[in-house]
Amino acid sequence: MSDLPFLPYGRQTIDDTDIAAVVEVLRSDFLTTGPMVPKFEAALAKRVGARHAVVVANGTAALHAAAFAADIGPGDEVLVPAITFVASANCVRYQGGEPVFVDVDPASGLMDLDHAATLITAKTKALIPVHLNGAPVDLAATRALADAHGLILIEDAAHALGATYDGTPVGDGRFGDMAILSFHPVKHITTGEGGAILTNSDALAERLRRFRDHGIERRPEHFLEADAGPWHYEQVELGHNLRLSAIQCGLGLTQLDRLDGFVRRRQAIAARYDAAFAGVAGITPVRSPRMAPTTIAASGAAVVSRADPTASTDGPADTSAYHLYAVLIDYAAHGTTRSAVMTTLRDAGIGTQVHYIPVPAQPYYQRRGADMAHYPGAARYFERVLSLPLYPTLTDADVDRVVQATCAALGVAGSPIGA
Ligand SMILES: Cc1ncc(COP(=O)(O)O)c(C=O)c1O
Repeated sequence: MSDLPFLPYGRQTIDDTDIAAVVEVLRSDFLTTGPMVPKFEAALAKRVGARHAVVVANGTAALHAAAFAADIGPGDEVLVPAITFVASANCVRYQGGEPVFVDVDPASGLMDLDHAATLITAKTKALIPVHLNGAPVDLAATRALADAHGLILIEDAAHALGATYDGTPVGDGRFGDMAILSFHPVKHITTGEGGAILTNSDALAERLRRFRDHGIERRPEHFLEADAGPWHYEQVELGHNLRLSAIQCGLGLTQLDRLDGFVRRRQAIAARYDAAFAGVAGITPVRSPRMAPTTIAASGAAVVSRADPTASTDGPADTSAYHLYAVLIDYAAHGTTRSAVMTTLRDAGIGTQVHYIPVPAQPYYQRRGADMAHYPGAARYFERVLSLPLYPTLTDADVDRVVQATCAALGVAGSPIGA
């Protein structure tokens, strides 16, 4: 067992401004609803350049609300990548629809659009691509596929707040009809639990807000019946209580103020890992083909190269928000297993995780007929992937410790960085 502090794979970054913001809301008149909620929504929408942000209780609720607003229902199919958190698929089931799993690129874990195209039928209603680890999917190509078949595009951007695609923020609605975020503590900003849906559509925002509030309409100009008095409200459809509290929105605002710094630090840590692993055989950092190469300046800051000669398009290269730092390892080639490596690292005080078990391999989806034989890319990604510690307060010395311990666990020579 290590005497050094334990490094989890992810964690929140909370400072005194966050604590003061929460205390201020606690001393105010509104612990839920009230002015903090639209204030956080407006700040979030402004930051990503979307017309609307609708905050909800968590990212799963955001997906559920998006599936509702997209009118997904029984008989509808929705394309979801095989590698993601189960919530990306479950939201379709909440609405009575069926997720149809799409294989992923075994190098990046991102949805394989060629495979997606083969799965589209008359029943297909929407696509839910996932910006896995913080790396944007090719949104223009995904939009083109959606448009060719009249599909709704819901981006699962739970990993990607602060990422850019083709020069603009993920979630700005340039391509997606809706994008969802999560504010779980391991994400870029946290509200404890929390989530949001971003959209440029007034009509979708209206339905999302109503769904969050039991399906209740409180605006007199939208009443279906005569306004009976100041107490009058109408439940016009079936919703839930998915509200995010004012306390959480207060925390979200101070967290959002620091988002840019959080993302820059995540990118700098990723660049340090990349540089360290560049000389190590058998450990391959996960990246998408469109991502700009990130290097570390003498100051320690991450420098994202805009002109990426390896990018697959002529446009500006994309930047990952690095929710996770994932590597691919051929454990058998090193004469070991992933379990052994994870246990060795845990004993050295280093937390790691596997993101994700393919969703079609889950017993619930197996019972619904999912067959892993259709997902060789997902199987290949899953068998090799490992998430190493990544969060803004991780120091360069911590990163070097993780690199050296990972190399030692695999019996490969470590890299000179940080040595
Ligand atoms: C890709 C993805 N989508 C959705 C969610 C759901 O978010 P939440 O945990 O806030 O419900 C997560 C959570 O980790 C996620 O990773």
